[in-house]
Amino acid sequence: MRATGTLDDAPYHVSGAESLVAPGMIEQTVAGLTRRALAPSHTVEAQQVRLSLDQLDVEPTVIPTLPTELKECPDVIAAHQHFVDVLSHFVPNPAEALRILTEGPTMRGAAMIEVGTGRRVEADTLRGVRVTRFGDLTESAPGASLAHKKHHHEAVLLASKVAAAPGVLAELCISDDPHYTRGYVCIDGVYTTVTNVKTDGDPNGGRIILVDTARADATMTTEWLENHPVLIGPTTASSQRTTSWQDDICSRLNAWRTAGLDRSPRTFCSPQSPNALTTDGPALLFSSSDYLGMSTEPQVQQAMITAVRRLGCSSGGSRLTTGTSLAHQRAEHETAAWLGYPQAVFMASGYQANIATIQLLAGPDVTVISDADNHASLIDGCRLARARTVVVPHADLDAIEAALERVTTNRALVLAEGVYSMGGDVTPVAKLVEITHHHGALAVVDDAHGIGTVGPTGRGVTEGLPASQRPDVLLATASKALGVEGGFACVDETLADLIRNCARGYAFSSASSPVVAAAVAASVQYLRADTNRVRRLQANVTQARRLLAEAGLIPPPTANDLGPIIRVPVGPESRAVAVQDELARRGLMVGAIRYPAVGRGDAILRICLTAHHTDEHIQFLVASLCDVLDAALTDAPR
Ligand SMILES: Cc1ncc(COP(=O)(O)O)c(C=O)c1O
Repeated sequence: MRATGTLDDAPYHVSGAESLVAPGMIEQTVAGLTRRALAPSHTVEAQQVRLSLDQLDVEPTVIPTLPTELKECPDVIAAHQHFVDVLSHFVPNPAEALRILTEGPTMRGAAMIEVGTGRRVEADTLRGVRVTRFGDLTESAPGASLAHKKHHHEAVLLASKVAAAPGVLAELCISDDPHYTRGYVCIDGVYTTVTNVKTDGDPNGGRIILVDTARADATMTTEWLENHPVLIGPTTASSQRTTSWQDDICSRLNAWRTAGLDRSPRTFCSPQSPNALTTDGPALLFSSSDYLGMSTEPQVQQAMITAVRRLGCSSGGSRLTTGTSLAHQRAEHETAAWLGYPQAVFMASGYQANIATIQLLAGPDVTVISDADNHASLIDGCRLARARTVVVPHADLDAIEAALERVTTNRALVLAEGVYSMGGDVTPVAKLVEITHHHGALAVVDDAHGIGTVGPTGRGVTEGLPASQRPDVLLATASKALGVEGGFACVDETLADLIRNCARGYAFSSASSPVVAAAVAASVQYLRADTNRVRRLQANVTQARRLLAEAGLIPPPTANDLGPIIRVPVGPESRAVAVQDELARRGLMVGAIRYPAVGRGDAILRICLTAHHTDEHIQFLVASLCDVLDAALTDAPR
């Protein structure tokens, strides 16, 4: 039901309500809602009442009402402080979030905020997310009882649906009814009424839903809140904790599967070279990050064999206890010298190096300006640090500069990738560093995919740059072009000392095996002396991009499209998987990359080139892709 009137010659929303009811209850519901629309107590009289009736196409889920508690606050200041205290457990910008709750003009829906980053993640920030399609099983005559607005009861019902939605961790609300001065906080399965959240007569209000996008992405949560029918029954003893562990685990897995996001990786019986062997048969690989084929280079293999005999299989502890061997030190010296940094600090994986370094550098008092396409390890570093994170559009230096100008914290950090892991495009690092340093901020670049692949001799995106134009922190992995595993933070002496003393990911994890470190050192040593593989890889990348563009599968390459990864856009997740499966039937292994590595509905085929691919391999790939993508588009439902 929606009732409208006029105020100062403009349309005015007088009242609105909806409910899920059984067919036998329709008549009394219509009567109840009409009485409510026409109630004389409204400040503005209803001139038009619209009632619409929908039939459900899915069975509603039945959930219990949340148990309730009361938090009495003496005044508005105390109530707002309570909201800020709750928000600060979840977001780095609690004051900004409080403004959504207290400042008009109000959205009709709720703001959806991602925990950790504090980012708004609803699709339409002007409209917000509308929680609809829920009904009341707690009243004996629910239709008739709709005749009068019962703030508390209706809010508890709505909050019960919100609390049961996938990914939701908490909800906070201040009503926009000028005379309703109570709000609520819903967290850990309990609805707590908060008194004195505003002064009588204040027409402002707002609602915030805090979501963990690692559990369910925002689209999935919104869909559930706006469209999934839910009936809310009486509070039960078991509803003190709304879902069991088993239910939670099953429903998360089901939601993931239903969205076409589950994976079943292949098992390899050979190295990940172009002509590989899996338990499903032979495959021509275009999906390995062993870009230079170093994992099968005899010098690297021999270094591992020698190290295992001399130093054993395990490091026996953290780098701070028994985990630093001669092999670790050699890997660090070789890498620092190769990449032109005073120090390289080696950790067990690129993921670990990234989260450890960012957690150490950032914090709630630091603003991190982060490219929208940054890798999960960089995002997780910001989350661990509880940094204020401002996400800027991908590869947009103007947006970075604008964000730097708005920084209110003492320190800021700009975070980008060197070669982007999903599109293979190169960041103009010198310009990025110039802008960053101009604002006194720190430049951190993760060149996981650029090391060994771009730059005249394969030293990555910083090759040839003078020290003044280099990022302050260069993050790198040994797991890709170096053909081994591990990650590096390349930094100056002082920061290296701080990482070695204080970075939790460095101190509180066993060091990688000396065998691994020895292979990394050998791989770097090889590439410092011999650049043939780098040149061969770069020729393959140019050739593949040219052929794919000529076939109309990708846009014509730009000057920044230099990395060994090529993104072929496919769109829906299901189509990407169908194309991947058909390519596999033809003996080709190309990864279909789906959410959360890329956006929802923006699945891609991610082609990885290596130095060991031949011209024939590349031609076969392009011809097969043309064929399979053509067929997939023709078969797609219109
Ligand atoms: C850009 C980027 N950074 C970091 C990592 C993590 O590196 P590693 O696989 O060594 O943990 C990856 C790879 O997955 C990546 O693509």
